[in-house]
Amino acid sequence: MTDKPTLIITGASRGLGAATARIAAGIGANVVLMARSAADLEDVAREIRAAGGTALPVPGDVTHAEDCRRVVAVAVERFGRVDGLINNAGVIEPLARVADADPDVWEALLHVNLIGALRMTCEALPFLRRSQGRIVNVSSGVSLTPRAGFGAYAASKGALNVFTKSLVLEEPRITSVAFRPGPVDTIMQDVIRAAGPARTSDETHAEFMGHKAQGTLLPPEVPGRALAVLALYATRDIEGELVSWKDERVAALVARYAPADRA
Ligand SMILES: NC(=O)c1ccc[n+]([C@@H]2O[C@H](COP(=O)([O-])OP(=O)(O)OC[C@H]3O[C@@H](n4cnc5c(N)ncnc54)[C@H](OP(=O)(O)O)[C@@H]3O)[C@@H](O)[C@H]2O)c1
Repeated sequence: MTDKPTLIITGASRGLGAATARIAAGIGANVVLMARSAADLEDVAREIRAAGGTALPVPGDVTHAEDCRRVVAVAVERFGRVDGLINNAGVIEPLARVADADPDVWEALLHVNLIGALRMTCEALPFLRRSQGRIVNVSSGVSLTPRAGFGAYAASKGALNVFTKSLVLEEPRITSVAFRPGPVDTIMQDVIRAAGPARTSDETHAEFMGHKAQGTLLPPEVPGRALAVLALYATRDIEGELVSWKDERVAALVARYAPADRA
């Protein structure tokens, strides 16, 4: 068994998940990377290894039970332990007003954003209990203040917040938190801007166009640093909460375990 903590990160082929994986590996974790795009996942793993880290790419889809079983099994086989799970895989579509909603597309989103996190959690639970590990569910500020056209996405993230609280009640050996990254410069933001006002609203569209125009989108490394630290070091005082990288308790953990000049 390895001495280093082992993290499983879903949605690690790009964006926030890939940035989090690079930082977690840089501060000493073995990272197990999951997403559907095998080539992109391999590129992230190669980059981490080139920087001296340990990364294991395991292509898979969080909506497939067998893939979720496999990623945890492969992690345990290779590293002998699982210390943290970051349920980061997520989709934003359908962006559509409720009156135009296609329930089948809502269902597809819920299968990724909510049930995918549940599947991964159930597979990892026995190992996280053993390590007294951590689960971080990547939620969104939209779960607290929904925007027009974001119904499916906001519902899934609100459900993840409650799922996190259920874990706190039921799994006392594990520290579980929900995380809101803020507006991050990833493909997901491109998709939101491209959806236009007709599928959201004039206000929502203007807000997201404004993030890009005013340069207020965050580089993925900013919330990614906090996400990596939470998966390794989240403390009991924040469990069950929906926390931001700006939260002073989270910032204190980052300053202690992963100051920006270290990894
Ligand atoms: N960007 C923002 O402003 C923002 C704000 C708040 C919250 N978030 C949340 O942050 C997380 C990461 O988003 P991002 O901005 O980095 O978006 P992104 O660039 O679109 O990345 C999404 C990731 O999820 C993976 N994924 C999607 N469906 C999957 C599936 N069925 N199985 C496995 N992996 C899957 C994608 O990889 P493959 O396509 O290769 O599978 C990709 O790695 C999401 O949960 C998102 O809701 C983002």
